[in-house]
Amino acid sequence: MNPTAANPADDNPIVRGTRGPAPKNPPGVIWCCNRRTGEPRYRWQFPRKVEYFIRRQIPDGYSTLHPFGGRAKWGIRMDIDPVVKPDVHADAWQPPFPACSFDHVVLDPPYTVCRQPEIRAVLTAALWCARSSVWWFHTIWVPPIPGLEVENSWLVRVGSYAAIRVLIKFRVTAPAGFRKQPYGRGTRDRCNHWSQQ
Ligand SMILES: C[S@@+](CC[C@H](N)C(=O)[O-])C[C@H]1O[C@@H](n2cnc3c(N)ncnc32)[C@H](O)[C@@H]1O
Repeated sequence: MNPTAANPADDNPIVRGTRGPAPKNPPGVIWCCNRRTGEPRYRWQFPRKVEYFIRRQIPDGYSTLHPFGGRAKWGIRMDIDPVVKPDVHADAWQPPFPACSFDHVVLDPPYTVCRQPEIRAVLTAALWCARSSVWWFHTIWVPPIPGLEVENSWLVRVGSYAAIRVLIKFRVTAPAGFRKQPYGRGTRDRCNHWSQQ
């Protein structure tokens, strides 16, 4: 332990030796068991432990938007696919809400969403809606965009022979009124691979 280290994470063997600044809070680990519950056709639902974990961190009485709603069990479910009977039928890249409409926005996009521009665009759309935090659950690590800052992160083992997921909680730092309008730009057609399958 080096007591003179300015950032305690610099002393953590996991991140020590990396070039550039180490994360202030190195990621935690969430370990899910192999057994998945629910219907096989909805394999893409949150692992139960992850859902429980996120919900526990969002106090009662605060609003949550799921732009990729699927069958999420709390909050407002927005989804492009009418089959999941969303509360709001809309595209995650073009949320039909005024700025700062929700306290928390939880993003769980299909894993086909993996290019930097589409990820940044969907984070911009989430930031447009969020007052307090934006959550990201995916196989890809994403850095924050202006207006968001990493508050905490976790590496998630969802089961054997499965890709590791990341769960990142971004704190909203952009003052209300300084949100960028979501891009739109026809992402709905380009990114909606899921419902085209
Ligand atoms: C990984 S699943 C989300 C699962 C959800 N977290 C749950 O626990 O049920 C991704 C969802 O995003 C939806 N989706 C795909 N493209 C979308 C888009 N452009 N806008 C909104 N929803 C979209 C899919 O229909 C699918 O329901």
